[in-house]
Amino acid sequence: MSSTILSITILAFIFFFTIIFLQRKNKLLPPGPISWPLIGSLIQILWSKPRYRWILEVSKDKDITYIKINALKLAVVNCPNIAREFLRCNDQTFASRPFTMTSGYYSRKYLSVAISPLNEQWRKMRRVVSIELISPSMVFRTEHIRAEEAGHLVKYIYRQCMYLDAVLDIRLAVRYFCGCIIRKLIFGRRLFGEGGAHGGPGKEEIEHVEAAFVVDKHLYAFCVSDLVPWLEALDLDGHRKIVTNAMEVINKYHDPIVDERIEKMEKRKGVNGAAEDLLDLMISLKDEDGEPLLSADEIKAQAAELFFAAVDNPSNVVEWAIAELINQPELLRRVVEELDNAVGKQRLVQESDFYKLPFLKSVARETLRLHPVSPFNMPHHSTEDAVVAGYLIPKGTTVLLSRVGLGRNPKVWEEPMRFNPDRHGRSVELAEPELKFISFSAGRRRCMGAPLGTVMTYLMLARLVQCFDWSVPPGMAGVDLSEGRDSFFMAKPLLALAKPRLHILDQL
Ligand code: HEM
Repeated sequence: MSSTILSITILAFIFFFTIIFLQRKNKLLPPGPISWPLIGSLIQILWSKPRYRWILEVSKDKDITYIKINALKLAVVNCPNIAREFLRCNDQTFASRPFTMTSGYYSRKYLSVAISPLNEQWRKMRRVVSIELISPSMVFRTEHIRAEEAGHLVKYIYRQCMYLDAVLDIRLAVRYFCGCIIRKLIFGRRLFGEGGAHGGPGKEEIEHVEAAFVVDKHLYAFCVSDLVPWLEALDLDGHRKIVTNAMEVINKYHDPIVDERIEKMEKRKGVNGAAEDLLDLMISLKDEDGEPLLSADEIKAQAAELFFAAVDNPSNVVEWAIAELINQPELLRRVVEELDNAVGKQRLVQESDFYKLPFLKSVARETLRLHPVSPFNMPHHSTEDAVVAGYLIPKGTTVLLSRVGLGRNPKVWEEPMRFNPDRHGRSVELAEPELKFISFSAGRRRCMGAPLGTVMTYLMLARLVQCFDWSVPPGMAGVDLSEGRDSFFMAKPLLALAKPRLHILDQL
């Protein structure tokens, strides 16, 4: 009996090492972790939480890593040259998206643009979103909405300074600002409820924005159902439940507004006069036969996606930027000085002032480099075999440009973990088409909301720094800059002491 077990064990070892030998001999694939036949690295990744940490760990310090997990093929990229080869030289081949459990729920079965694989639906929605909805001209036309919202943000903080102990929850404030702007742009209303104390968020706004963060967090989170699709019905890690609950919250707020508006416009036979918001626009679009271009489901999926896309990046950048500036008062002083010289103290900073604020822009850019909102860029999926950096990348590979691996790469950035806005020189913006870090990415799937995301970020940061002196709450030596265990957000919401610095604030 024992000799049989011994023989089986020896045979298993021989089989295992033969496979490893053959894998290594196959020089065409990029290097990767040693993996089991058939299931690849499934066991390793299932053991780690959050799962992306294991991927970051095995790809650390390598330009490109190939990982096989069951049927999933991953190429993880930390090198800007290789990243450009993927998204610039081979853009067409890598412009699709993978199917995942969450992305299906998120997009009502792949109706919205960011989640759609490369197909006719994506082309149709890309035209709608980039030309009709969030074009640069729309961003220009809606400046007054953002200015008004920035006024609300300043008032909300100012009132807390007057009535409370002035220790502010910056995360709450900046997420609220992003939520109000995008709600106003899409639905024509900034609040879904009555609002909260001091002009801040009510429970509806908090619930709405939090649901978006839950969905974003689980979007490409390597849940068990994606790694082992036949286990989906069991929902072993509970991701499906979490995501469907969050989508129920989103739909609870969005669906009645969309349905009611469609009905109203059908009765009126279209919009009388100019469309007032993106929802009007989406409903009024017609195809070549004069029929509605978008179905109700497409409108709902796209509205939700624009909301998700607009809240996380700008708010994350501003929360981290204020934290970093508080810990380096000399940098904070330089941003304040720049604002005082460019704008003065008698009026509030506007979007038209941005061209005079190069240092503030460098601060935002450095924050985006060092503190990405997620570990990886949105995944790109290949539709045919390709050779990249001399390696074979088989059809059906999911390419993950590592936001952490690129932005914190010591071969690219000197002292990568140091927050140093001056490293970018003068006259910079948030966009980074060279892919030395990921901001709006590049190629066909690059961010369509770059102009809007950029002005939202600058405006929030500029108003907060111009209007208030920021410091740590009493009794603290500095801001704790630790990241969360399962995210790249600050481990705890940033609490900071705000002191009004402009006399005009009491006239708001
Ligand atoms: C600072 C703010 C923002 C940053 C850093 C950012 C970043 C990104 C990134 C990295 C991607 C993925 C690109 C790729 O797959 O290679 C993306 C995609 C996208 N973003 Fe943004 N984004 C921001 C704001 C916005 C806003 C405000 C909107 C619209 C309301 C938006 C809409 C989109 C859309 C629709 C896509 C999908 C494009 C496609 O798949 O074809 N983004 N964004």
